[in-house]
Amino acid sequence: MEGICIRGTGSYLPPKLATNEDFMKIVDTSDEWIVSRTGIKQRHIACEPVWQMGVKAAKAALEDARIPASELDLVLSTSVTSDFSTPGASCMIAQHIEAVNAVCIDINAACTGFVYALDMARMYLTSGEYRNVLIVSPEKLSRITDYTDRSTCVLFGDGAGAAVISASEEKKRFASYLRTDATGTKVLFARHVDKGNPFQEKQKANEFDGFEEHDNEYLYMNGKEVYKFATRVLPLAVEEACKKCGVAVEELKYIIPHQANIRIVKTACERLGVPMDKMYLNVERFGNTSSASIPICVDEVNRRGLLQRGDLVAVVGFGAGLTYGAAVFEW
Ligand code: COA
Repeated sequence: MEGICIRGTGSYLPPKLATNEDFMKIVDTSDEWIVSRTGIKQRHIACEPVWQMGVKAAKAALEDARIPASELDLVLSTSVTSDFSTPGASCMIAQHIEAVNAVCIDINAACTGFVYALDMARMYLTSGEYRNVLIVSPEKLSRITDYTDRSTCVLFGDGAGAAVISASEEKKRFASYLRTDATGTKVLFARHVDKGNPFQEKQKANEFDGFEEHDNEYLYMNGKEVYKFATRVLPLAVEEACKKCGVAVEELKYIIPHQANIRIVKTACERLGVPMDKMYLNVERFGNTSSASIPICVDEVNRRGLLQRGDLVAVVGFGAGLTYGAAVFEW
């Protein structure tokens, strides 16, 4: 075994759309504000569970990879909006695609989930233990979005992406650079609220270390802090992953960033010194779908035939945690 390859990709977007005009009916906002600050025009909203979206994306990836689900050794789900606390989304998806020989693990690395999972897949595959890994990233951000808060509700959408990563006899370049700045846990989070139990008094205010100020389960975000963090780590992670891979940033055919906000990507581009057309973007159509955003893009790039064998691609993510990281791989 010499390396790893992306053997197949898939994605699924639920049919229901919410445009900027739709948001103008529920909060005080405008198409002009949303487009100029974020680049987003519409997003998809799911009326189905996360695992069902995951199953659809996973089946598409398996079909593209031309392998049966029974050949999967590992299913990694990166969903942060899973339907159940337990079992994991990976188990639900494995059941419904009949991945009868797979070990199932859920990873919570927020919007960086796919990049983290890619690195875990590499480690399992290069150990020689496993031959085929399915990464599946279904997200239903509408589940944790507060539709009365105009500063966050316009940003997020639902969808799923998936990829089959396999051991390869060919020596293909791959490197990743992963980091977590856990001092930033309060910048971006969605918490569980205790339901209480008969043995405990009500939780005291300080027991949640400040998080209790947000006494609901909706996503909280300090937009300005996230913006500063993202514009700093996006170029850094790409440069470090390229360094580890022994390639120059200029050699990359595409950089696929987490699709959060077009302004973040433009600033990162300037810092990296690369033209915007190196960045693959679809945030305009889908909004921020958390860990689904990168694999949805990878699937689009694949299905549009935009990559030739040997092309180098970087994927780069950042999100709650604060997690961040990039991976460079050869197509
Ligand atoms: N429509 C109209 N006005 C809005 C609005 C909306 N949807 N949301 C916020 N505003 C208003 C604010 O209330 C504020 O008004 P005020 O000046 O009267 O108080 C004004 O716009 C500016 O708000 P501000 O928060 O300073 O905007 P910003 O330029 O920082 O842009 C974000 C806000 C969220 C777009 C920006 O901070 C950002 O992109 N952050 C990163 C978000 C992200 O990518 N998160 C996901 C990471 S995984």
